[in-house]
Amino acid sequence: MTDRQKTRQRPTRRQNFGQTYGSVLADGVSRRTVLKGFLASTALAAIGSASAPAGAKAGENVSSLKFTELTRVRDNTDHWPEGYDRQVLLRWGDAIFSDSPAFDLATLDGPAAEHQFGYNNDFTAFIPLPHGSHSSDHGLLVVSHEYVDPYLMFPGLTDEDFREKLSDAQIRAIMAATGVSIVEVRRNGNAWEVVKDGQYNHRVHMGTEMAISGPAAGDDRLKTKADPTGRTVFGTISNCNGGITPWGTMLSGEEGAMDVFAGDHKTLPDQELVERQGWDEEENDLYSLSRLEPRFKFEEEPNEWMKFDWVVEIDPFDPAAKPVKRTALGRFTHEGAQVALAPDGRVVIYMGDDDDFEYLYRFVTRDKYNPNDRAANKDLLDSGTLSVAKFSSDGSVEWLPLVAGQGPLTAEAGFATQADVVLNTRAAADLLDATPMDGPEGFIPHTGTGKLYVAMTENEDRLPAGGGDESETINVANPRGPNPNGHLLELVPPGAPEKPDHAAEKFTWDVFVLCGDPAVPADECRYHPETTANGWFTDPDNIGVDPAGRIWVTTDGPPPEGLADALYAMDTEGPGRALPKLFYIPPVGSECCSPAFTPDGTTLFVSVQHPGALRLDDNEDATSVADAGTNWPDFVNGMPARPSLVVITKQDKGVIGS
Ligand code: FEO
Ligand code: CA
Ligand code: CA
Repeated sequence: MTDRQKTRQRPTRRQNFGQTYGSVLADGVSRRTVLKGFLASTALAAIGSASAPAGAKAGENVSSLKFTELTRVRDNTDHWPEGYDRQVLLRWGDAIFSDSPAFDLATLDGPAAEHQFGYNNDFTAFIPLPHGSHSSDHGLLVVSHEYVDPYLMFPGLTDEDFREKLSDAQIRAIMAATGVSIVEVRRNGNAWEVVKDGQYNHRVHMGTEMAISGPAAGDDRLKTKADPTGRTVFGTISNCNGGITPWGTMLSGEEGAMDVFAGDHKTLPDQELVERQGWDEEENDLYSLSRLEPRFKFEEEPNEWMKFDWVVEIDPFDPAAKPVKRTALGRFTHEGAQVALAPDGRVVIYMGDDDDFEYLYRFVTRDKYNPNDRAANKDLLDSGTLSVAKFSSDGSVEWLPLVAGQGPLTAEAGFATQADVVLNTRAAADLLDATPMDGPEGFIPHTGTGKLYVAMTENEDRLPAGGGDESETINVANPRGPNPNGHLLELVPPGAPEKPDHAAEKFTWDVFVLCGDPAVPADECRYHPETTANGWFTDPDNIGVDPAGRIWVTTDGPPPEGLADALYAMDTEGPGRALPKLFYIPPVGSECCSPAFTPDGTTLFVSVQHPGALRLDDNEDATSVADAGTNWPDFVNGMPARPSLVVITKQDKGVIGS
């Protein structure tokens, strides 16, 4: 489910979960097996765990995180711990070049927006400058801009009438406000500033020409009137989370591009594929792009939609370089693309397909990373093996190769070529009997231990054992049905921690956290027993790892009524393992995304998406700017606060969290 869809999903909480976690027993799976590694590795609570009493300080004696945990609050401003500073570094519309026009909603159009920071920033990474250094006071911020809600951008529109009322200039501004921003930044004391004449500063958006490479490049299904080669496309959209390669390029996951297409999908040759890819009869043509560019209407151009929902590789260090859509990594609702190296130097990309009952994927390059020749890595991501995860009750998880001609992926089944596989990745994974997950999002290799942490945000449609179709009932890795709160898994490659083999066929796995409120027995949570009434969370989305090895988890609700999405930190090892502490709360209606650190851990960058999307008073969707009603960090021409990138530092300039 895309971020936009989640934001518009009504909060539903405190259901009677009925037969849930214990139901894995009825499914022939031993609960003891599921919990074995989980319980063995820490002093975790037993089933139905209680949290520490309200007001208690989270694990002061056991957690390595020494900040004073926030008290939960839900209001229209943001909150951070005592002893820290928070700075708003970049907002939608801020100048990123010396000659960027001032942000002015009355005149905003495509050319202006192409010179400004984009909307709804999601993926955020800090790449030290000079490239290859470990600088923590100078670097590039590489930031994706996932989507817009036009009626929360421009006064005078509502969620009912915006498609008709958007001006052509506003549509062009939207096309330029999504995509990616690359911005040079520098630390000055405890504050950060944008280097507006930075040589690498640039924007990537819907007008940017890109190449298409890998097995699907040149396929008839990617050929259009404007591109008879099937090897180029203008633009990237729905840029959700991502990753940074060892050679310093950005990978951006296109997640949910179907939302911006229009027309009658029944005119397309492959009904099953367009529906599986997320076509929604009610929620499409979101930016009215088809009014200006007929390629976004199925009847005008039946193949354009196949050019989206890939992973895009962007070179932050070469503004003139064409971004490349790497089709070898498969086509689905790409949440992110986090990168690790196998011991033999092959590159490994981990990807979640963020939709209910979809899968976890991995791509391993055929060739090795060359640390001595950046150019030699240019097309590494075009050749390799895409695979999908299957979890077993013996505590193992297998990576099953999605290769045309292997196993059930036969020509008769529709997979004669690898292009067939990557163009219809989800159906190929179905045939391999992969494990359907609860909305997999953050999927990150821990740089210290070599373990992987994966966030399943939630899946209210997950069925209890015996509740229906086997693919939708609980399984070992998704053990609660329904699962409105989400969970975190821990995957361990062989050889971890010294030499994790990220390319191995088989890993082991544990449940790390089962989210929810530990005071509600029906939530059947799993946390460290000292988790406080402020520290528990739901709907985990992005995960960051700090240089000290703690993970930082952002949530993307809707959270339980009365709460806000937020940022939590926790140890993964030692006595504080799985003990979350509440660190940052953005304004109501917003979520924070992609916690990212400087190499020395003294600066934390966090994206704040869609402030104003929920009304403060009743937690319902805001339907217009006038309806939004948040004032953080300021109103602009009657606008709600703008999506922003914030910086958090410690007042004593120390390591965040320590
Ligand atoms: Fe863009 Fe899956 O969140
Ligand atoms: Ca999100
Ligand atoms: Ca996400």
